Amino acid sequence: MNGRPLLAGATLSRKEDFKAFADAPRRRQPDLLTPNRLAALTTSARAEYNRDRREWHANLGPLRTPQLTSLHEDLWDIVDSNQQDGDKAKGAVAVDAFPGLGKTTAVLAFARDFHRREIAEHGAFTAQGHERWPVCRVGLTGNTGMKDLNRAILEFFGHPGRQTSTAAQLGLQALDCVLSCEVRLLILDDLHFLKWRRTSGIEVSNHLKWIANEFPVTLLKVGVGLADKGLFSEGEALGETVLAQTGRRTARLDMPPFTIDTEQGRRQWRQLLLALEQRIVLIGAYPGMLADDLSDYLFTRSTGHIGSLMTLINRGCQRAQRTGAERLTRDLLDHVRNDEAAEQARHELEYAFSTGKATSRPQSVRTLR
Ligand SMILES: Nc1ncnc2c1ncn2[C@@H]1O[C@H](COP(=O)(O)OP(=O)(O)O)[C@@H](O)[C@H]1O
Ligand SMILES: [Mg+2]
Repeated sequence: MNGRPLLAGATLSRKEDFKAFADAPRRRQPDLLTPNRLAALTTSARAEYNRDRREWHANLGPLRTPQLTSLHEDLWDIVDSNQQDGDKAKGAVAVDAFPGLGKTTAVLAFARDFHRREIAEHGAFTAQGHERWPVCRVGLTGNTGMKDLNRAILEFFGHPGRQTSTAAQLGLQALDCVLSCEVRLLILDDLHFLKWRRTSGIEVSNHLKWIANEFPVTLLKVGVGLADKGLFSEGEALGETVLAQTGRRTARLDMPPFTIDTEQGRRQWRQLLLALEQRIVLIGAYPGMLADDLSDYLFTRSTGHIGSLMTLINRGCQRAQRTGAERLTRDLLDHVRNDEAAEQARHELEYAFSTGKATSRPQSVRTLR
């Protein structure tokens, strides 16, 4: 168990959860046993081994995908260039992409690295003796209003004012927390849940602008369809100049799915599968199990969405372990459910692969066989 608190940081809505997440040691990959050694385990040792593997396969990540790496590079550039002093407004960032492409995972991995670097360099306390919190992270849920957003920031810090105050007071208290804890990165995840109807669009935009101007932080907005909400466009959506100003300072970053229509795309897909193979702890696994034998199949099932791929692999590994199959095959995975969107896209791709109209494998590997 590596001393990891169970479920800690499942939502990371409080600073203590975030700290536990940031400080947690890496999970240790269970050893890969030979069939004989597995058979030789006592009942309780085997139960423990299997429990370790279940937990391991349920948490296979994050892999350093090209998408994650490039997002991190951009974030380091922006966050570090925002270190200029004083009243210069800081650039904001928006990570805008469909669900299941790994936004939250990549952003949290960045937040973790950033938190660790800042604490290592500047210490756990500020010069004024407050706890230092380089990152404040808020995840929004259905239909959050402006007041709830401010309250959520206070919740993160466990600030007592959060039950009683008015929206404006909440906002000022949030600012106070951010200043005294010397927050440098404010992450608003699932921002599309903010109540955003036509009438409140301006209010939202103004509020985010207020945060961007008053809070000495890099504001990192994460969500789905943020561009459509008029967050980046030069003032089109609501015909207001406030929006134009929000747009100009927000750098938009994408998290694209894997694609297989170019050689480079196929190579990246293969790299991902090879990396994933290394992490699978099934007795009957073999090199090429995913990258050679299941490449097209896994692309079909996931359509290049990392979320769908990881769900499938996780569930497949659980099943392979439970049933004693101890390896991933088409047959086994055919019985594993995936999310609806992935299932729908699957049928079209299956057709393309079966008629030879598409392949997910790079040229170099195809000619080898
Ligand atoms: N780089 C990665 N390595 C491993 N698994 C990942 C990676 N990125 C995403 N996942 C998995 O995909 C799923 C969806 O990712 P998530 O970050 O929640 O996507 P989003 O926030 O874009 O909806 C999660 O279960 C996560 O574990
Ligand atoms: Mg997310």
